[in-house]
Amino acid sequence: MQYKAVKGFKDTLPDKVETWGQIEFEAKRLFDLFGYKEIRVPVLERAELFARGIGRDTDIVSKEMYTFQDRKGTWLAMRPEATASILRAFIEHKMHEGFPVHKLFTIGPMFRYERPQKGRRRQFHQIDVEIIGDAGPRSDSELIYMIMQFFSLLKLPDLVLQINSLGCERCRAPFKTVLREYLNKYFIQLCPDCRNRMDTNPLRVFDCKVEDCKQVILNAPSVLDFLCSACNRHFDDVMLYLKKLDMDFEVNPGLMRGLDYYTRTTFEVRTRELGAQNAVAGGGRYDNLMKEFGGPDIPAIGFAIGEERIVEILEEHFTRKADGPDIFLVALGKEAEDKVFIWLQELRRYDIKCEMNYQSQGLKAQMRYADRLGAKKVLIVGEDELIKGKGILRDMFSKEQTGIPLDNVIDRLMRLVKL
Ligand code: HAM
Repeated sequence: MQYKAVKGFKDTLPDKVETWGQIEFEAKRLFDLFGYKEIRVPVLERAELFARGIGRDTDIVSKEMYTFQDRKGTWLAMRPEATASILRAFIEHKMHEGFPVHKLFTIGPMFRYERPQKGRRRQFHQIDVEIIGDAGPRSDSELIYMIMQFFSLLKLPDLVLQINSLGCERCRAPFKTVLREYLNKYFIQLCPDCRNRMDTNPLRVFDCKVEDCKQVILNAPSVLDFLCSACNRHFDDVMLYLKKLDMDFEVNPGLMRGLDYYTRTTFEVRTRELGAQNAVAGGGRYDNLMKEFGGPDIPAIGFAIGEERIVEILEEHFTRKADGPDIFLVALGKEAEDKVFIWLQELRRYDIKCEMNYQSQGLKAQMRYADRLGAKKVLIVGEDELIKGKGILRDMFSKEQTGIPLDNVIDRLMRLVKL
């Protein structure tokens, strides 16, 4: 008999290990800059820890945990995430008696019994980061800023940052009542799981993957309309700092994040790739979890990055065309050629790898050339574009095209590449 790896568990062969090493090296370097220390926690915990922390009604706990009894009959679980374990360790080792604020990270395997598919495994790896001890909005914004810095260092293309606030217990109680009333109206459309969740934990209906439930939840009341003044101020401040840090983001009131412990800010970074499994990182504030675990009343916030998902994107983009230009400039006509020629040299002064073709070819030929070079983006400028003051920007991976104003074009292109 020939043995094969268990479904959803994968080997990482030597030629791939290098990418993993690079990702982890960059993460550790960046986290050090922001003052984080590494912590290592076991892969096995008492199952109860996750049931209490993540929530019994969540998919992770009710459907996806690898649990078993050891020889003495104690229920154990392979950790599905790291946050609960880190808090358990924090309390067990009385870490709060040291510094007031702890910035911690851990990297390692997590286990969830999900249906394996692109970007989804049963054993997967997370880079997990937590700030324990600060309740202020600056921590939220800094943490989000740091993830985006990390993805920008890795040059991950086409990411969207979504944020939301789930408020505190005071905001959540009236929201749950109104949500229940809303869901009641669509009772017959909901799947049996959601009919149960409606009473026990209506927020979990937001996580349902059944199409009918997704349709119902699309028009559900927004949690943001129920925030108390303190939570509102916190969320406004988080957004303000993000804007000051030049971060683009979308507010998504439906971002409930699938785990029960969140309070106030939640966020997710999504890619336009990887099909349905498009979240490359997710996290949020969990100010009550430490108390819930019997520890001191200390607020916290964190996130986890799915390493497999980043590796997949990086491999798709960068093994084939690792050294292609960041931008290829397509100029059509003499006037555009002369302008673009100057832009080209300016961009290079700012460390942007870019290229154009001096043969005055037509659009198709230049696009073919850009593709052969492995360009990531193409800016197209012809007579029309010069008159309108707007060029066309094409993403060579997603094939999406958008308009880009030509005033301050160097700044605009630099932002696109560096982000
Ligand atoms: P999560 O959203 O459950 O959050 O997972 C974080 C990331 O792990 C996801 O965005 C995804 O990239 C990756 N991931 C999750 N499941 C799988 C899977 N089956 N296969 C591959 N990748 C996967 C948490 O785990 C929270 N503990 C994050 C956090 C930390 N919140 C506060 N602190």
